[in-house]
Amino acid sequence: MALQIHALFPTAVATAQLRLDPLELAAQLQTLLMLRGADEGNPNSGCAWTGDLNGVWQLHRHPDFSGLTDRVVEQAWAYLSAVGFDQAKLALHVQRCWPVLSDWDQVVGRHHHPNAHLSAVLYLSGSGSGEDGVLRIHAPSQPNELVPGSAAGHGGPIAAGHPLNQPHWDLAPQPGLLVLFPSRLDHSVLANGDPELLRCSISFDFVLTAPVDGDPPEYLAPHPSLWTPQPLEVN
Ligand SMILES: [Fe+2]
Repeated sequence: MALQIHALFPTAVATAQLRLDPLELAAQLQTLLMLRGADEGNPNSGCAWTGDLNGVWQLHRHPDFSGLTDRVVEQAWAYLSAVGFDQAKLALHVQRCWPVLSDWDQVVGRHHHPNAHLSAVLYLSGSGSGEDGVLRIHAPSQPNELVPGSAAGHGGPIAAGHPLNQPHWDLAPQPGLLVLFPSRLDHSVLANGDPELLRCSISFDFVLTAPVDGDPPEYLAPHPSLWTPQPLEVN
């Protein structure tokens, strides 16, 4: 009897190809360049310019991007439904939305988003080849490595690129490509190796809470409209 492999506990990373209107896209790219201004990196020139560190973290409220945000939100709900969430028992919030502009040879270091639940990236540029810098999502653990450190390569013992022993997953940007993934996953952006192409993307961080109506269960934060901000303590 043949050995049956059960690939357990899959991580759900979703992609969708959105159609972008060419005229709207051109205007959006101009807006992003204007928002970047004279800055180049974060803070040094080897790191991509990211709006969250430069006061541009509410792009979803900008008139040039609110329509695009609606389409991403639609896909976020589809993602939640696909992984088993009941929409009627949730509220979905865009917590933050910011552009990332990566010029030639710029990168984004490995990180995750500890203050969000679901993250998304929409690409506004890209050749599809990955030369302009892939998004790399890192495996949170590699139980199939069996011997810790043995998947590092150097000729074995695990076959290079084996599908059951992947340390990461790469995605090549292209205009309109959307990716959604759990915010807890570490990710990075490899260097933009195309001197002619500005790598341009918009990141979204979503937070899930209980709906505004009803009594929130302990495992979901109450809806933020029900929170009570406290004044600074005055001595
Ligand atoms: Fe990120």
